[in-house]
Amino acid sequence: PSQLLWSSRFSSGPSDALAALSASVHFDWRLATYDIAGSRAHARALHRAGLLTDAELDAMLQGLDKLQADVESGAFTATVADEDCHTALERGLIERVGPQLGGRLRAGRSRNDQIATLGRMYLRDQARVIAGLVTDLQQALVDQAEAHFDVAMPGRTHLQHAQPVLLAHHLLAHVHALGRDVERLRDWDRRTDSSPYGSGALAGSTLGLDPQAVAAELGFSASAANSIDGTASRDFAAEFAFVAAMIGVDLSRIAEEVILWTTREFRFATLDDAYATGSSIMPQKKNPDIAELARGKAGRVIGNLTGLLATLKALPLAYNRDLQEDKEPVFDSVDTLTVLLPAFAGMIATLAFHGERMAELAPQGFSLATDVAEWLVKQRVPFREAHEIAGASVRYCEQRAIELSDLTDQDLSAIDARLAPEVKQVLTVSGSLASRDGRGGTAPVRVREQLAEVQHLLAAQ
Ligand code: ARG
Repeated sequence: PSQLLWSSRFSSGPSDALAALSASVHFDWRLATYDIAGSRAHARALHRAGLLTDAELDAMLQGLDKLQADVESGAFTATVADEDCHTALERGLIERVGPQLGGRLRAGRSRNDQIATLGRMYLRDQARVIAGLVTDLQQALVDQAEAHFDVAMPGRTHLQHAQPVLLAHHLLAHVHALGRDVERLRDWDRRTDSSPYGSGALAGSTLGLDPQAVAAELGFSASAANSIDGTASRDFAAEFAFVAAMIGVDLSRIAEEVILWTTREFRFATLDDAYATGSSIMPQKKNPDIAELARGKAGRVIGNLTGLLATLKALPLAYNRDLQEDKEPVFDSVDTLTVLLPAFAGMIATLAFHGERMAELAPQGFSLATDVAEWLVKQRVPFREAHEIAGASVRYCEQRAIELSDLTDQDLSAIDARLAPEVKQVLTVSGSLASRDGRGGTAPVRVREQLAEVQHLLAAQ
């Protein structure tokens, strides 16, 4: 118990039950390197304030270097008796430089400003890693779009055939959504670029320390403008959890399509053997487990966000121990995405698309009916009537079990006199695609431009 950082006014150590509840070292140990970096910066701040001599600073920094090396090699580890990573690392420092010097480092800082700073440092690093992994997935989607540029597919709304689109256009839609997630991580970083170190427990320090210098050393542009906000706010964690959840949700939407596309009924794509799984009983099975795990894990990262928000709700300022609960949800979201994204990108990169099958289905289900209506509009028919005439064509075809492109000139004029034989020019997938040529449309010329734009953005990302 005497190793705890707060035992002096207590006559007994904590009960085993309290110690078991209170301990966070089994999950906050992953912050050890950041804690040591904070300690180095803090030692320099103490030195500048005249609270450590030159020789003491040197010895302290050497001790911290040794501690860092021992943490990395595993020679120093936290024990169950250490409440948290801060306690363990103070013990480690004192073991290396002795209590006289080691006991000086805690002056002017609190675990409250430490943990608030370390959480930001860790997540800023992880956000960069995750942004890179999302970019890899975007690249895989872009490569597939480029490789299958000419493939048309049934575009869907309500999962029903709607209008033909290019597969490339569809894949790029996902690339744009993921691009906004990367942008969100960047925006988030800008708001998280503020160091609480120096806020102390909540009110700052009497010791004349320089929080701005500590902030700069730890990679922040500035220190917290308000020590209460610095130690009590966790919106950085909640917002990170939101972006992680959004990435999970965006992945789950791609995943659902991969699951559908690889069914026997769709046959739009086949999974590579290295990114599919089998069945222990059914020898023929090839299952889209990566996509299903992505869909499932989206629920998990959404849960991390909602759990954290519930923890923060109505917490009074400043620090409360509830805030210790901020770490496991964001750590879990980090771990989940860093294991999921590479598998997901590999699945997409190796997916074999069946372009002929997609193209064959593209005009089916009367997906060119809008083209008929818009052709009539160009012949000066009011859209309201054009919609009815095209609808009548669909009904006519449905009764005869044929497609719109099967209609003869006689069929057309029987449906409506305004359906001149020229309408058949728009009853092709390529005609339909080419005519949707406004910015953002699925016409190949526009999608080609879009692809170039996205490639440019990705290269800069
Ligand atoms: N382990 C705590 C956390 O994660 C930091 C320590 C603050 N503890 C305290 N009793 N003030 O938030």
